[in-house]
Amino acid sequence: MDRTATRLGWGRRYVMVEPTHFRVDYRINPFMDPADQPDPARAIAQWRELVATIERLGGTVEVVPQRPDAPDMVYAMNLGLGLVRPDGTEHVVMSHMRYPQRRMETGSAQQWFAGRGFATSYVGRDGVGAHLEAGDAFAFGDALVVGYGPRTEELALKHLAADLGVRVRGLRITHPGMYHLDLAFCPLDERRALVCPAALDDASAAALLALVPEPLVLTEEEALTTFCANSILVGSTVVMPACPDRVRAQLEEWGFEVVVVDVSEFHKGGGSVRCLTNPVDVRIGRDLPSVPGGEVLLPPE
Ligand code: ARG
Repeated sequence: MDRTATRLGWGRRYVMVEPTHFRVDYRINPFMDPADQPDPARAIAQWRELVATIERLGGTVEVVPQRPDAPDMVYAMNLGLGLVRPDGTEHVVMSHMRYPQRRMETGSAQQWFAGRGFATSYVGRDGVGAHLEAGDAFAFGDALVVGYGPRTEELALKHLAADLGVRVRGLRITHPGMYHLDLAFCPLDERRALVCPAALDDASAAALLALVPEPLVLTEEEALTTFCANSILVGSTVVMPACPDRVRAQLEEWGFEVVVVDVSEFHKGGGSVRCLTNPVDVRIGRDLPSVPGGEVLLPPE
């Protein structure tokens, strides 16, 4: 077993939305088809199994109720970007969703977070600022790595960096099926991550591969058909919706355990394990450096 790389400091505390009103009512990504509805009982059972798995692995889950008029709210990752500031303040930068069908989710989520003592803010709202969807943003290495294009706008990166006092590394997403970075990138430890370069333009793919010392590179097909990059890490266990054999072999060689949880009902809305879970324990100053004033690094045109 290889124990040389340091484990992630975050990924123990999650916020999730109970799927009491999960439906596919519209089509804002290529996976969604209103003619192919999720089975409500199966969806709840799969979601509960995911919660139980996270808890069994030592993680905690806090549950936000789902708004009846917000069928995509189950993809809790997109509600906002949770970070613990250097002074210990728990902060959530609320998303400003690209599509109007999802915009009402964040107002409810903001009240929920505020009611639990989180400070909240926005980088875009009601026609001002920029679109931000938190499934595009992950701490890795020396920065907050943020995918932009299909959902998050480039302008959001500047606001995030300045408001949070962190370095933001932008990556241009070009693949319509990997519309959030979390469908193509999953940090595993300080040196390793699941990476699907096919989601990005050439310069951004090269930038991401340069950032991850030991990438586990996924093919476009692996990422799109199994959602395997849309996984989470709880301790040393990778919780995945599916795990191709060669991916499992590499993960185990690196010393990770793999647990597969079937969340196939949620694939009908275009999201999987990561999309259903929102980690709120990423610490500025521990998991990503504090950079007063902020800094944005973009890939070359
Ligand atoms: N139907 C949702 C949307 O298109 C799926 C979100 C998936 N979530 C994620 N973090 N990738 O917005």
